[in-house]
Amino acid sequence: MRINKYLAECGLSSRRKCEAFVLEGRVKINGKPVTQLSTEVGNNDVVTVDGNKVQPIKKHIYLIMNKPKGYVCTASDEFNRKTVLDLIKDRSERIFPVGRLDYDTEGLLILTTDGDLANRLTHPRNEIPKTYIAKVEGEIDEAALEKLRNGVILDGVKTKKCRIKLIEFKEGHSRFEVVISEGRNRQVRRMFESINKEVVFLKRVAIGDLKLSGLNRGEYRDLYPEEVNYLKLV
Ligand code: URA
Repeated sequence: MRINKYLAECGLSSRRKCEAFVLEGRVKINGKPVTQLSTEVGNNDVVTVDGNKVQPIKKHIYLIMNKPKGYVCTASDEFNRKTVLDLIKDRSERIFPVGRLDYDTEGLLILTTDGDLANRLTHPRNEIPKTYIAKVEGEIDEAALEKLRNGVILDGVKTKKCRIKLIEFKEGHSRFEVVISEGRNRQVRRMFESINKEVVFLKRVAIGDLKLSGLNRGEYRDLYPEEVNYLKLV
């Protein structure tokens, strides 16, 4: 990579302005001053500006995927099941899913190379609301729904208050919009199980204001810069 491009990728300034650093004799490669703009930087070269080591800022990858059911969210699975990473064909970087959707659940999944963002989003202190569509056999009366909204005990710990709204009752099934601000293991399924109701379909449709739309099952795209900024600030 040309020296001015390298310096720009270190976040110092624009490529043009970085040329000035070189011409002013402020740049060294492996301890030797560089003044030629045509100088190339190799992979193992150490570059300094005014004696300070500089390194290119790593560009992270941020993807949004519509996870299909039948995939796990781990890098490798003890039962050899397909993983969401098997769906990513055009990237060679070490990408990992942010949090998990269980094997049978589909919908919005973020994948990234940015460990800091992943940790922040999945930290228990982060209460970003996650919206799910849950389909359940039969009807559920208001009293039972209220119980779920106020919190039920899972593994000895009460779930936080959540929002649950009936969307429709059709062909013997109820569809609910469920908004939770935690990420406990199989939480939505287990909440309904606690009132003896089985979730037969579960899809995450939003994380905060980030919505799943325009992606078929198994498809993914890069997040737009404004979406990445949003996730970094929530
Ligand atoms: N709740 C579940 O039951 N499963 C998920 O994958 C996410 C939330």
